[in-house]
Amino acid sequence: MIKESYEEIIELEKQRQNHNIELIASENFPSQRVLNACGSILTNKYAEGYPGKRYYGGCEFIDMIETKAIEDLCTLFDCNFANVQPHSGSSANQAVYKALLNTGDTVMGMDLGAGGHLTHGHKMSFSGQDYNIVSYGVDDNGIIDVKDFKEKLYLYNPKMVIIGASSYSRSIDYKVFRDIIEEYSETHNGNKPYYMVDMAHVAGLIAGGVHPSPIPYADVVTSTTHKTLRGPRGGIILSNSEEIIKKINKAVFPGIQGGPLEHIIAAKGICFEEANTIEFKEYAKQIVKNAKAFSDEFILEGAKVISGGTDNHMFVLDVYNSFGITGKEAETELDKIHITVNKNQIPNDPLPPLKSSGVRIGTPAMTTKGWKEEDFIKLAKIIIEYLKDCKNSKQEEKREEYISKVIDLIESVK
Ligand SMILES: Cc1ncc(COP(=O)(O)O)c(C=O)c1O
Repeated sequence: MIKESYEEIIELEKQRQNHNIELIASENFPSQRVLNACGSILTNKYAEGYPGKRYYGGCEFIDMIETKAIEDLCTLFDCNFANVQPHSGSSANQAVYKALLNTGDTVMGMDLGAGGHLTHGHKMSFSGQDYNIVSYGVDDNGIIDVKDFKEKLYLYNPKMVIIGASSYSRSIDYKVFRDIIEEYSETHNGNKPYYMVDMAHVAGLIAGGVHPSPIPYADVVTSTTHKTLRGPRGGIILSNSEEIIKKINKAVFPGIQGGPLEHIIAAKGICFEEANTIEFKEYAKQIVKNAKAFSDEFILEGAKVISGGTDNHMFVLDVYNSFGITGKEAETELDKIHITVNKNQIPNDPLPPLKSSGVRIGTPAMTTKGWKEEDFIKLAKIIIEYLKDCKNSKQEEKREEYISKVIDLIESVK
């Protein structure tokens, strides 16, 4: 039995978040305004349906919240239509499959091992179980293999292709894939697969103008709101096509969800508003500068970074080939000195997912805490030294020393 109260456990987690260096690429620290909305009385309200078309009375203010969130989202990404109801990124993706495909249709997505997401076709996810999946990957340099993508497109004639990833450190040129689809269509009687982009990881960088936007090229774009976008945990779907958004709306409700989480929708709206500011643009720029300085320092010290660096908010450090320890060992040992990362497979990983050869490292959360390039360079030096000690089993005796270094670094930025 756990004897602590829920409030005590929340406080413990708060302390952990304050005393750790948070490098999980998909996490962030949203503003107090966002948190307040998440904890607001909007959670009391049932509002199945959409603004103006609800199955419950008393929705006049809820309608204002949801309409405003849709407007702010469309303004932020310069898009015509949006659905802000998906409870998560996975639900957003599931809704797109349901809206545009029939069970068993062929879908092309990036392989999980190469950096894709479970919902892009993994066999343990609804996507891999209910659809016929063709996976594409990355080349020997860790860059999306456009040739492989094109060959598979022509060979398998998918009904939908998905571009986007969970651990891919390079900028994606969304136009390239639109052009490939158009060219394919010319030789296939005008038939074209739906082009879906899952921008969950880089949405904040796109909103901040430091990465290209998929909106002008994709038929439908999904995202989470809690990663680089720095909002509440949730999902969104955007499209410039009225026909597609109508199908999406039906697929979200009543297709896969019931009552929308209007407290979270209000928090999403606040995050869209916040992301549309000069401060957020500066933040997005700093995320990328920090990730570059951080990965460069590892490379300078002879460590292997997948794809040789980063253009975005994250990179995968090959700890197995750099330090002779597995991703799982690195994750566990770094946790002991208050540094949080997650193990991650590298392309063609010889180790199974639960061990993995790499760790994924991201800068969005600590950039929110005000960290700059020099702080990440200092951190890289600590991590490199520590992982080398882990390899030589010297980390136990020096652990307190490392913890002090980490705490000093956290304190120096406050
Ligand atoms: C690219 C991508 N899409 C979708 C998701 C799913 O989001 P959620 O965890 O909110 O279901 C993730 C989460 O890591 C992701 O990285």
